[in-house]
Amino acid sequence: MRFTARARRIALAALMGGALLGGAGGAPAVTSGPTPPSTDAKPIYSDAAALGKLMFFDPALSGSGKMSCASCHSPEHAYGPPNGLAAQLGGADLRQQGTRAVPSLRYVLNRTPIWTHAQAASLSERLSETDNAPVGGFGWDGRFNHLHEQASFPLFDPNEMANKDPAALLAKMQRAPYATRFKEVFGENIFADPSKAFAQAMYAIERFELEDPSFHPYTSKFDYYLDGKVQLTPQELHGKKLFEDPAGGNCASCHIDQPGVNGAHPLFTDFNFQALGVPRNAELKVNADPKYFDMGLCGPLRKDQSDKLNCGLFKSVSLRNTATRQVFFHNGRFHTLKDALRFYVQRDTNPDKWYPKDAQGKVDKFNDLPVALRVNVDTTDEPLTRKAGERPIWSERDIDDVAAFLATLTDGYDLKRKTGKSSDHP
Ligand code: HEC
Ligand code: HEC
Repeated sequence: MRFTARARRIALAALMGGALLGGAGGAPAVTSGPTPPSTDAKPIYSDAAALGKLMFFDPALSGSGKMSCASCHSPEHAYGPPNGLAAQLGGADLRQQGTRAVPSLRYVLNRTPIWTHAQAASLSERLSETDNAPVGGFGWDGRFNHLHEQASFPLFDPNEMANKDPAALLAKMQRAPYATRFKEVFGENIFADPSKAFAQAMYAIERFELEDPSFHPYTSKFDYYLDGKVQLTPQELHGKKLFEDPAGGNCASCHIDQPGVNGAHPLFTDFNFQALGVPRNAELKVNADPKYFDMGLCGPLRKDQSDKLNCGLFKSVSLRNTATRQVFFHNGRFHTLKDALRFYVQRDTNPDKWYPKDAQGKVDKFNDLPVALRVNVDTTDEPLTRKAGERPIWSERDIDDVAAFLATLTDGYDLKRKTGKSSDHP
């Protein structure tokens, strides 16, 4: 049932050029033209965005005085994590571990649809394709609809920037070198009204995230290939074929790689949610408690979803710049792209390779979910349908080829020298 529902949504997404229903951040949806030029045309840049940029890079806005948004969302790493830690260390002493891997902020900020989960009216409707699966929202669990709401989470999370409260944050802002500018833009007496000052600060961060072209440079080899400026190598083309084959890797059914009807370059995600059964990660301290489970849509961070069918589901992420990452999936369980690919094709054929054995010596498959909820894990979409002992859909050679294809999604490809660097600085 999920498959048909998804196929329908993919068709919709493709039809809308991946722009879907407009950005959750309220940015205009990309409606025409292939690659937004990031160099020649001067982008709109509001005063608020300029202030938001200063805030994004300001470590003084944290409890430790040493951590900014950019500490975790590093511009040199496609606004993803600068290291291979499964979750970053933050808090007042910079020793508190988070519970999830840092996602890249590239490409998705102005294209993530608003969270929607049209609840089915009846059980029969639910078992048919009229049940709309959840889609969109920010965070691995889609719990924020707007970037200004999202921004206040890391600022106060005790494992992240760990400010005590908005008053503490505003006190720091009033001492910042850009305090005068903040007053010029938002009003001389803005700090006299703390709730308004706080709202404007979050708005400024949102404007930076939506307006700054460094969040969507479209300078990968794959973008130039779509524009007819460069050819892919035979190995990259073979990887692309494997990535797309519906009876094979089937990756493109969720990580969409076709341009939209309006020519918009693809983002390699459909913003849908799936439970992939990623193995539990012992690197996360929270996992020392055998009763702790990160169940994505049904908590612990997200609290508004009671439907057990949604437990274990996480949002599909963009694979642009994925080859530059050192940590993969919501719990950071894998540290190389090739291991992430191997997991997809060997999860079911060689489960003993990915999951530990339980007390009875049986492979504890899907061990990062409570036993009763493991039925939610996707076993209907290729390549997640195999049986133990069957041959994996991809050989090691194939995995090399898909990894080579995914490396064409790294920004900063030099058309003249025909080489890619890992990322480009804004
Ligand atoms: C300590 C590391 C850390 C810091 C500091 C941090 N983030 Fe994040 N960020 C994360 C993690 C981890 C997630 C995924 C959170 C989740 O799913 O609950 C995330 C998610 C996001 C997302 C959602 C992306 C998406 O595709 O859904 C945005 C936007 C974001 N962060 C912006 C910011 C901003 C703005 C700041 C500074 C105010 C910031 N972050 C500071 C670690 C960090
Ligand atoms: C049914 C939809 C679906 C299919 C098919 C699918 N993916 Fe994914 N992919 C997801 C979701 C959802 C996540 C995030 C899951 C999580 O972290 O728990 C993800 C995450 C990933 C990541 C980790 C990215 C990161 O930044 O952490 C990689 C790499 C990836 N997929 C590659 C692939 C490849 C290669 C294939 C084909 C073999 C594929 N995917 C097939 C939905 C899908």
